[in-house]
Amino acid sequence: MPSLTLDTPELALQYDQVSDLQYEHGQFLLAGLQLKPGQTLLDVGCGTGRLAELAARHHVGAGGRVVGVDPLPLRIELAAARALPQLSFAVARGEDLSAFEDGSFDAVLLNSVYHWLQDKAVVLNEVFRVLRPGGRVAISTASRERPHDIQQIVSRVLADAGLGRSVSAGSTPYRVTHAELAGQLEHAGFFVDEIRLRRFADHFPDIDAVLAFSNASSFGNFLGDYLPDVRARLQAALRSTLETLATPSGVLLHRNLHFALAHKPA
Ligand SMILES: C[S@@+](CC[C@H](N)C(=O)[O-])C[C@H]1O[C@@H](n2cnc3c(N)ncnc32)[C@H](O)[C@@H]1O
Repeated sequence: MPSLTLDTPELALQYDQVSDLQYEHGQFLLAGLQLKPGQTLLDVGCGTGRLAELAARHHVGAGGRVVGVDPLPLRIELAAARALPQLSFAVARGEDLSAFEDGSFDAVLLNSVYHWLQDKAVVLNEVFRVLRPGGRVAISTASRERPHDIQQIVSRVLADAGLGRSVSAGSTPYRVTHAELAGQLEHAGFFVDEIRLRRFADHFPDIDAVLAFSNASSFGNFLGDYLPDVRARLQAALRSTLETLATPSGVLLHRNLHFALAHKPA
């Protein structure tokens, strides 16, 4: 199970700097929510708050309200520096949104967060509760039927090292299939409007950039199940495998994400 205690100030700052991929695909989710000026948005697992700030500035405007929550205090510390009157942040897990009243948001966003959630039903029930009738939820999550390239490479490295599968070895521990995602949303009471699988081709300038992205995006959990000496050996093996894929222009890796839009019945 991923740990929420492995984050460091360096990883948090690094995430703020290397999270362009999440920031860019998060904008698909925001577009899908079709927020109107004056509306309210809860960003669950907001990280360092880049997307929440964008939503506050350009989607709900000065008359609206955006709240970002994340369980990592160091990331919320960075997010809180984004001073806008209509934007606020708090430390909280998606499993416990008790700080918010029933029906208090027009929309909820979970961008690159869902694959970190072990008990998805608890989180979806909370999201359902805090949404007003007719309110919308937007989710992007790694696909179980089509794992990211990096996930497949990590699995090979682990197998070559004689180590079995490890839940948090990679950076998307609790991936879902299209059918699972639809079922989980419906079970929580949502109407599913759309689920689309999108494939992204990511160009990293070098192997260090791949590792920095993986480490910062997983808040210290990347290969984090292993003792330091094993982890160092696995990282070396991973680096060697990535070297075989690198070209003079860098490393090309693909990610596959489900994008879901659903609403609470009016
Ligand atoms: C890859 S980051 C995505 C951050 C942000 N949503 C973005 O688009 O940049 C994953 C985030 O999920 C958060 N997270 C992990 N477990 C969580 C939980 N149980 N509830 C809410 N957020 C969680 C992490 O703290 C981390 O900030």
